[in-house]
Amino acid sequence: MIYKYVFGKPIETGAFVMEIQKNEQEPKWMRLTKTEAGILLSCHMDESDVVYGLGEQVRGMNKRGFTYVSDALDDPDHTEDRHSLYGSHNFLILNRQEQPSFGVFVDDPGRVAFDVGETKLDQMAISAGSDCVIYFIEGESLKDIAKQFRKLIGRSYIAPKWAFGYQQSRWGYVNEQDVREVVSGHRERGIPLDAVYLDIDYMENYKDFTVDPEKFPDFAGLACEMKDQGIHLVPIIDAGVKIEEGYSIYEEGVEKGYFCKDEDGKEFVGAVWPGKVHFPDVLNAKAREWFGGKYRWLMEQGIDGFWNDMNEPAIFYSEKRMQEAMEEVLSMKGKNMDLHAFFHMKDIMLGLTNSPEDYKSFYHDMDGVRVRHDRVHNIYGYNMTKAAAEAFEKISPNQRTLLFSRSSYIGMHRYGGIWTGDNRSWWSHLLLSIQQMPALNMCGILYTGSDLGGFGSDATEDLMMRWMQFGVFTPLMRNHATLGTRRQEVYQFENQEGFRNIIRIRYGLLPYLYSEYMKAALCDEMYFRPLAFDYPKDAHAAKVEDQVMVGESIMAAPVYTQNATGRYVYLPEDMLLVRMKSLKEKTCKRLEKGHHYVDAALDEMIFFVKKGHALPLAVLDNNLKSTADMKDVSYEWICFGDGPVEYVFYEDDGISKNYTPQEKWKKVTIEG
Ligand code: NOJ
Repeated sequence: MIYKYVFGKPIETGAFVMEIQKNEQEPKWMRLTKTEAGILLSCHMDESDVVYGLGEQVRGMNKRGFTYVSDALDDPDHTEDRHSLYGSHNFLILNRQEQPSFGVFVDDPGRVAFDVGETKLDQMAISAGSDCVIYFIEGESLKDIAKQFRKLIGRSYIAPKWAFGYQQSRWGYVNEQDVREVVSGHRERGIPLDAVYLDIDYMENYKDFTVDPEKFPDFAGLACEMKDQGIHLVPIIDAGVKIEEGYSIYEEGVEKGYFCKDEDGKEFVGAVWPGKVHFPDVLNAKAREWFGGKYRWLMEQGIDGFWNDMNEPAIFYSEKRMQEAMEEVLSMKGKNMDLHAFFHMKDIMLGLTNSPEDYKSFYHDMDGVRVRHDRVHNIYGYNMTKAAAEAFEKISPNQRTLLFSRSSYIGMHRYGGIWTGDNRSWWSHLLLSIQQMPALNMCGILYTGSDLGGFGSDATEDLMMRWMQFGVFTPLMRNHATLGTRRQEVYQFENQEGFRNIIRIRYGLLPYLYSEYMKAALCDEMYFRPLAFDYPKDAHAAKVEDQVMVGESIMAAPVYTQNATGRYVYLPEDMLLVRMKSLKEKTCKRLEKGHHYVDAALDEMIFFVKKGHALPLAVLDNNLKSTADMKDVSYEWICFGDGPVEYVFYEDDGISKNYTPQEKWKKVTIEG
């Protein structure tokens, strides 16, 4: 049951698709107080209560003990003291033992803070603005609450099947030779690959919807050559449009008035990678249509996948505040600089980036209504992605296009996926990525994954290997790293055969992973779940922070610490331990419910199959290059049952949008 409460005059975010009558009675789940700052919700938490959700945030699956703030931020330091990352996902479930559990969703595109027992260990307090919509959801189980929420917000985005293949990215592939080299690096070693990403270097001076003609003299030809090899090129699009005379996107945007304006009605000037930029006002329907239409040019050259970046929007500095800062710093010249003055000067410069003052100084024209950016900050990236998705619907209505974004808000999950931004090559970030997945799925974001191997810092071979073993399960399986770090394409490491095997295991598992993704998307379910969602009566399951259910049959328990040759695993019931070095070297062993130490050599994957469940494993040709080679594969089965076990497969062409016909579902019975 969903209960809706409306406060003030909320801004329409487009988060939900289901209309629900608003409720006038006092909410019974949390105490509601109206303060000068807005709405405050609070409630008591028993010691055994667990809080799940909040999507892309730091810390564990149980969010208790910290304050999380929805305030989209470009921050590459995902350390545990960070209150905000790139996305704003204001949905959580309070899992209570003594009383019914409930979910709460705060639909407010401005800043919302969730103090989940930080100020007071046993109190949760949520503060939102005065104009918002709040939903409370009751249900029979955690799964049921999450499912009702998902029905409220609408069906999750479905990526083309090739985007479930392995993908390679790096900031620093600067020309077509680099792209060809990456492809042959994989092909020569028999490592399957479906996509290569183009980071900002493919553009001409970082201008959106341009391609540098010197580095890519025949872009359409390259895209076509790549398609012939089973490779999709996926270019990046940034939010900021470079200010440059003669650049058509800039000139058109100014002429039509489609950029965000400052207090005086002039185009707001920020600075990002291209230097000075204007931000397209994607909250305005016409501007959104205009900006989205610009993707067409790249699609006409054979592109069928995009990643939208820097769309919090990130602002390195604004022209106005840079001037003020310069003046202040220059006024210090010649004066005696004591330590206080020195640190003040440093703060002035550092404070220019992503400054709250800047977010208060520009405006959107929300179809006739002028709205200050900070009130709608968290839906900017969402609307940039919506702009693209709406355009794709017109440009190629019957074909899926790969699309994911850095910044997001609930609602955007219908238009695209996300990646989890600039993590580091740290073991703690491997664990973080495991913990983020179910929280994102709860909020509808199914097509997701982290930068495998870590974006910042140098990846060591063992970290890369372990991260890859978890990446086998994430719908987006992309290796990405920043400029200046050690090359981390898997063939750069010594154990190339080991990496090849792990990536081939991903392709072997694809029929299962894709079927489970489609079930989750089409039936509003979670592909990744915390253990407590499947084993609600098992008090210990709620304490497990480093294992996760993947689809209906698998429990993943990745190794995520250095020098470990195994790990402790908790089994909430008897399960089948599957150990795989390659598709050919596989063993299965029944283990009893309870705690176990399970060995896992560095190049060995382990996972578990639930009792009474099975999964298909594709039998792959030794020369398999990409998902394009997977038509008409045969299967073997991994099955854990004392009698026959049923599995429901989902199969389609992976590219058209006709998802629902019954013949796509196939029930198979496997002898246990
Ligand atoms: C920031 C993104 O998070 C990262 O993935 C990308 O490589 C850089 N921008 C450069 O475009």
